[in-house]
Amino acid sequence: MRYRRMPIEAESPEEFGYDRIRCNLAESSVADASLALLGTDLGDLLLQYGDHRGLPALREHIASDGPGLKAHDVLVTAGAAGALFLIATTLLQEGDHLVVVRPNYATNIETPRAIGADIAFVDLTFEEGWRIDPARIAAAVTDRTRLVSITVPHNPTGRGMPEADLRAIVADCEARGVRLLVDETYREMAFGGPLPVAATLSELAISVSSLSKTYGLPGIRTGWLASRDADLVERLLAAKEQVSITGSIVDETIALRARRMRDAWLPGIMAGIAEGLALVRAWVASDELVEWVEPDGGVVCFPRIRPDVEVDLDLFHRVLVEEYATVVGPGHWFERPDSYMRIGYGWPTRERLVEGLGNVSAAIRRSLVQTR
Ligand SMILES: Cc1ncc(COP(=O)(O)O)c(C=O)c1O
Repeated sequence: MRYRRMPIEAESPEEFGYDRIRCNLAESSVADASLALLGTDLGDLLLQYGDHRGLPALREHIASDGPGLKAHDVLVTAGAAGALFLIATTLLQEGDHLVVVRPNYATNIETPRAIGADIAFVDLTFEEGWRIDPARIAAAVTDRTRLVSITVPHNPTGRGMPEADLRAIVADCEARGVRLLVDETYREMAFGGPLPVAATLSELAISVSSLSKTYGLPGIRTGWLASRDADLVERLLAAKEQVSITGSIVDETIALRARRMRDAWLPGIMAGIAEGLALVRAWVASDELVEWVEPDGGVVCFPRIRPDVEVDLDLFHRVLVEEYATVVGPGHWFERPDSYMRIGYGWPTRERLVEGLGNVSAAIRRSLVQTR
């Protein structure tokens, strides 16, 4: 494995220092929740090794997201990131061919890259509304392809996918005997309602998700994967056991509590997301130097400075951070030019979001290249 730090992590707000940031538009979750909100008294909890697959009641709850899924199909992992790592390292070896959409949440690309896999990128474009086109995925699959990897709703664009497109991708993978990884970390935040859990659609499909983004619980590091291929889950469990034996009983107990609060909790979360989105929509409409493809899920969007506007991009990002104490996710976090920026609209307060968006506009204007 050839590890290197990903810019999205090395430059993340928590690594940069939350205390140095006034307007944090770089997050990809709703605001972080406190333990007190979950009302969890953990005083009696025995700090033992837990069930190696994850707390049974938690796995049952997760399985209830997909008809036909059973607790045994679910493996609780150290965040969705942990699931992605286990899947990539279990399924891929150096030289193995996989198809990955780009831009993407960086781990979906970086772990296969660290393995030395042969990556065929399907590059999504602004002009095509960031669509993950089943025909383009199918065209990238070869006889050697071992894995197709998509993220929906998508990070960093916040774009979803019609159910028919997901089913078309599943059908093509089935027809060609290729495994499909669907990173569903934003699934519950799809504005038009969630897509089916991919693992319910095919034994070749693996679903990945977590509580980090929708509920603002990244600090418990609890995610999961689901697959109806029992042999595969067993191999993934073997990988998990080699890394950590089991997950944290503390984290999983809190995660179960959060899941059980979901029905009461989620509507308020979605209302907050809609408010944030409306503020970004108003900002884009008011600033003629930026444009976007409006997201239809998740809590991030990926606007850009219009291509006909000449901006010193290094200066722009420097001014934004150093003079306005405002952070966004620059394009290079996603292997895209820095004229793109990921803006998270669910984490900051409404006031800081509006202020931060104004700062983006101001920093662009401070960085315009004067042409004669
Ligand atoms: C699409 C996607 N997948 C996975 C993750 C990993 O999140 P976590 O490990 O906190 O669940 C992220 C985090 O940004 C993400 O955006």
